[in-house]
Amino acid sequence: MQNIAVRRDAQRRGIGRTLLEALLAEAARRGVRKVLLEVAVDNGPAQKLYGAYGFEAVGLRRGYYQPSNTDALVMMRQDD
Ligand SMILES: CC(C)(COP(=O)(O)OP(=O)(O)OC[C@H]1O[C@@H](n2cnc3c(N)ncnc32)[C@H](O)[C@@H]1OP(=O)(O)O)[C@@H](O)C(=O)NCCC(=O)NCCS
Repeated sequence: MQNIAVRRDAQRRGIGRTLLEALLAEAARRGVRKVLLEVAVDNGPAQKLYGAYGFEAVGLRRGYYQPSNTDALVMMRQDD
């Protein structure tokens, strides 16, 4: 999957959380134990959502988003 997005007028009703839970459940079903994602450094709402599901910042990709040249935070969630 490339992106999780919820239409602006439908945000903040739990849809993003539901999408992420479905994605993580499918990954677990396939035996995936480590999930990595990129999120824009200035995207606080998405970072908060990922943080609530155990994702932690592990790196930075400079200029990942073009043409804005915004850096991406790399976040990782690992089952132990
Ligand atoms: C990130 C996104 C998918 C979240 O979808 P959503 O349906 O609004 O999220 P939810 O209602 O399930 O919220 C889940 C949690 O995320 C966090 N969150 C979501 N929107 C937030 C906001 N505007 N400000 C702060 N925290 C926010 C909160 O912790 C929230 O839990 P809470 O409502 O119990 O406080 C949505 O904001 C979006 O589509 N953004 C634009 C696209 C994008 O940035 N996608 C991610 C790219 S990596």
